[in-house]
Amino acid sequence: MVLQKMGETKRFGISLPPDLLEKFDEKIDEKMYTNRSEAIRDLIRDYLVEDKWESPEGEVVGALTLIYDHEQRRISDKLTDLQHKDYAHIISTMHIHLDEHNCMETMAIKGEAEQVKKISDKLISTKGVKHGKLVMTSV
Ligand code: NI
Repeated sequence: MVLQKMGETKRFGISLPPDLLEKFDEKIDEKMYTNRSEAIRDLIRDYLVEDKWESPEGEVVGALTLIYDHEQRRISDKLTDLQHKDYAHIISTMHIHLDEHNCMETMAIKGEAEQVKKISDKLISTKGVKHGKLVMTSV
């Protein structure tokens, strides 16, 4: 479905209870939207992307962030091994040394939604990973 072609938009009206609209306006103001249309466009895109994750065949790209203590036994080796096993899907990795102990690794993972989730779960559940979070999107 094409929502917006270059330079072409369609208008439609929405009926809402006043209190709901008031809350929505407060929220989009907080998030620094300049108008309702832009906020609603983002919500619709979000909704459609989420729908794509639900289907196992949808091509998605994920950004996985891991936090771990590199002094934990063999954790760096374990994480590197896992990434090599899925080299076809993990297209980029960035490693940041946060402080003397903690590392942050951010990976771009491309593939079908199911695969991206499986690869991420394996990495997040590796012993020693303190926190992991996957954000998926699609083009
Ligand atoms: Ni590090």
